[in-house]
Amino acid sequence: MLDLTGKVAFVAGAGSVGEGWGNGKATAVLLARQGAKVYGVDLNPAAVAETAQIIGSEGNACATRTVNMTVAAEVQAAVEDCLARFGRIDILVNNVGGSAPGDPVTMPEEVWDAQMDHNLKTAFLGCKYVLPVMERQGAGAVVNLSSVACLSHQVDGRTNVAYAASKAGVIAFTRSTAIAFVKKGIRVNCVVPGTMHTPLVEHRLAKQLGANDAAALVAKRHASVPIGRMGDAWDIAHAVLFFVSDEAKYITATHLVVDGGLTAARPG
Ligand SMILES: NC(=O)c1ccc[n+]([C@@H]2O[C@H](COP(=O)([O-])OP(=O)(O)OC[C@H]3O[C@@H](n4cnc5c(N)ncnc54)[C@H](O)[C@@H]3O)[C@@H](O)[C@H]2O)c1
Repeated sequence: MLDLTGKVAFVAGAGSVGEGWGNGKATAVLLARQGAKVYGVDLNPAAVAETAQIIGSEGNACATRTVNMTVAAEVQAAVEDCLARFGRIDILVNNVGGSAPGDPVTMPEEVWDAQMDHNLKTAFLGCKYVLPVMERQGAGAVVNLSSVACLSHQVDGRTNVAYAASKAGVIAFTRSTAIAFVKKGIRVNCVVPGTMHTPLVEHRLAKQLGANDAAALVAKRHASVPIGRMGDAWDIAHAVLFFVSDEAKYITATHLVVDGGLTAARPG
């Protein structure tokens, strides 16, 4: 079940934004546990080195490279390096992303542009250079990471219009790309995380929200989810694993919301 033996996984954003388990790090480690050779790329060399160290310590294969996924030449070079090392790419995970606060009035234009690059262009460039490889192989599976921020607006939370818009774009990009490549043996799907307890919460959100009280923020986030708690990076990693496995061979052009019921609920 969910066996990836013999497959090569290119994971973009395979580090973590802080100590602990981010979505990309957990995904890289889980895909390796299931038998895939992992090629992990990240802007932060120390973060992806830690992921590689964990994978290696479990006896699995991982190569890494420092890559800015918003820069086409760097993505292209990484794909070529992955092919030189492992000979193929069966799985692409476009995990790079993150939010910046602001509404259309308060958000500087350059922040809007940077958010589009960070959340949407990274998935575009990953696909741009990996899909031709998968096409030559006649098979492949891609998973892009979106966010529930594009499905509903937090009632008393912060506004992040560029994040919402770019993550909605990730779902549309997924559906359109999937159909464009459906006859080539390539599947393209999207995982939509909800309110997750990843290092992002302590590392960035607590500061961005001004409170600097991470414990209060964690408690508030747990209470806000119908299932009674935030999810964690492994909940996302397992959804990615299912999509890239052969058990999901009839599933393409869709998305899976992993949010503990959050987007189905409404304020009473
Ligand atoms: N954490 C959450 O609560 C949450 C909720 C909804 C959606 N998501 C989405 O899940 C994904 C992962 O989020 P996460 O918080 O788990 O982060 P993460 O811990 O997986 O870290 C992301 C990694 O991407 C790297 N990175 C950043 N910019 C990069 C670039 N330009 N090129 C290459 N690498 C880059 C960072 O260095 C970091 O190691 C994102 O797309 C995010 O929007 C997260």
